[in-house]
Amino acid sequence: MCGIVAYIGPREAYPVILKGLKRLEYRGYDSAGISLLNGGLKVYKKKGKVAMLEETLQGKDLHANIGIGHTRWATHGEPSDRNAHPHTSASGKLAMIHNGIIENYASLKQELINKGYVFQSDTDTEVLLNFIEEIKKKNKCALEEALRIALKRIVGAYVIVLIDQDNPDTLIAARKGSPLVIGIGKDEHFLASDASPIIEYTKEVVYVNDYELAIIKADELILKNLGNERQTPFITKLDMELAAIEKGGYEHFMLKEIFEQPQTIYDCLRGRLDANAGTITMSGIEKYAEQIMNANRIVMVACGTSWHAALVAEYIFEELCRINVEVEYASEFRYRNPVIIKGDVIIAISQSGETADTLVAIENAKAKGAIILGVVNVVGSSIARVSDAGAYTHAGPEIGVASTKAFTAQLAVLTMVALKIGYEKGVLDHDRYLQLLKELDSIPEKVTTVLQQNDHLKVLAEKYKEARDFLYLGRGYNFPVALEGALKLKEISYIHAEGYPAAEMKHGPIALVDENLPVVFIATKDSYHEKVLSNMQEIKARKGKVIAVINEGDEQSIALADDIIVVPEADEIMAPMLSTIPLQLLAYYIGILKDVDVDKPRNLAKSVTVE
Ligand code: F6R
Repeated sequence: MCGIVAYIGPREAYPVILKGLKRLEYRGYDSAGISLLNGGLKVYKKKGKVAMLEETLQGKDLHANIGIGHTRWATHGEPSDRNAHPHTSASGKLAMIHNGIIENYASLKQELINKGYVFQSDTDTEVLLNFIEEIKKKNKCALEEALRIALKRIVGAYVIVLIDQDNPDTLIAARKGSPLVIGIGKDEHFLASDASPIIEYTKEVVYVNDYELAIIKADELILKNLGNERQTPFITKLDMELAAIEKGGYEHFMLKEIFEQPQTIYDCLRGRLDANAGTITMSGIEKYAEQIMNANRIVMVACGTSWHAALVAEYIFEELCRINVEVEYASEFRYRNPVIIKGDVIIAISQSGETADTLVAIENAKAKGAIILGVVNVVGSSIARVSDAGAYTHAGPEIGVASTKAFTAQLAVLTMVALKIGYEKGVLDHDRYLQLLKELDSIPEKVTTVLQQNDHLKVLAEKYKEARDFLYLGRGYNFPVALEGALKLKEISYIHAEGYPAAEMKHGPIALVDENLPVVFIATKDSYHEKVLSNMQEIKARKGKVIAVINEGDEQSIALADDIIVVPEADEIMAPMLSTIPLQLLAYYIGILKDVDVDKPRNLAKSVTVE
């Protein structure tokens, strides 16, 4: 959470930072702020989105060639001007931005209060900043040295960037647990939480590692560890185009990303799946194929939508590979004392690759000897780097806060892994294997067909937008789709929605059903279809409104449902890649009708880098 940007070089810093903050707003938008160094230190901050900060800065002299900026997702202290970053130190000479949480801030704050410090905000960031300044003062040392000493006492996660009025040609940054990318230009450097603010200036970047400090001048980048030893910066070339992070004519990123799915699933399969040759090539997985095949169990860890992808994958792996799969919320898994035996296979699923709970869960499991495979979208992200191997989802940057295309790409990757392992293990016979490869190959085209329901979903959104609650029901492979449909609706329309296994509904949620409750059934033709029809009857008998996602010609569902959404038929293993898409569109259009900022719904952030 929180986005950070910084610049040093010959350009005007303000426009670079402002544009960067707009790109990073998906990480949080409770407040925004910028600090510039030009003679003295200037700090501007404002509650609300970056555009509000921009508005208040109209007409001001913002000339500077060095500066830092921040867009906040609140943790310590309510969203307000005073809690917005950058924070300034007691002397007024240092300014700092921070992404992360300082867990021991309360005791440090007390120490500083005892020394006479007075705080202007409720944040942990201001505490860390003054702690650094106090060490600098007491030890009469350079800022870099003070920072190193301070960080050894810090418990928590951080990326911080500091500017110092007395050293106007230097940015100092440090990282542990939150992401930091440094773009290297000609006599200039760009710092950001991800590459999106950097991409239009340079493709050469350095991903800073945990426990590293960066001392950055316009023409120099020095990396050191906390022991003050120089580290060699490892320069990577970005494989990303600017167009991928722009809206491309769509009104919202979310809609663009929903409509990209035929392409993103195709991109994910490309170069890996060859349905005619009957092969799946995934080098990261091949390296560990033996261990996966022989694993007693696979544990999948993830959060949110990625956790839903894991639930679908659980069904797929158990069916195709006959390996026991456990799906864990990363936030629970990391704090339990899970039994992990050397050689256990853990699959971490994450769009951002930065979700703190997932990251720490796999770090813990790795320390106990587990093999970590990552199914990650963001190349070079922390989870990708901690993983022993894995497969990228290649869905391209996902900027809408609600995850859409990353989910279907995760399903595509996990399906390929299961097919590969199931076949090599001998669980899947050749004919079924080939049939499933062909089926998977046809998914991008079928997704295009699903998207033709777009106008129909606008009509349904209009019809149901006033509902206070929604219920989403599905069974088998479509049960996680019900969870995902409900999550999307909650996130971007603020309507209360619950996803349930359709049969479980009668053990409680059925009490909610009346003539005002829309119930979305994911009822594509699969081995559970007859049972789902019975559940539909149960809802109709209680006057609920049934919206059914079905396959063409399903007369029984048509007879029962108030409204239908037709998706092409697919093998049940792959049906979720299709049945999810109309639910994304339904949520999107209801959100629009309710005037929600669907790309940045309230209280959320795309990359949850705090626990
Ligand atoms: C929902 C959503 C979140 C994320 C979750 C995990 O639309 O976006 O629930 O799925 O925060 O994020 P990643 O996949 O980046 O680990």
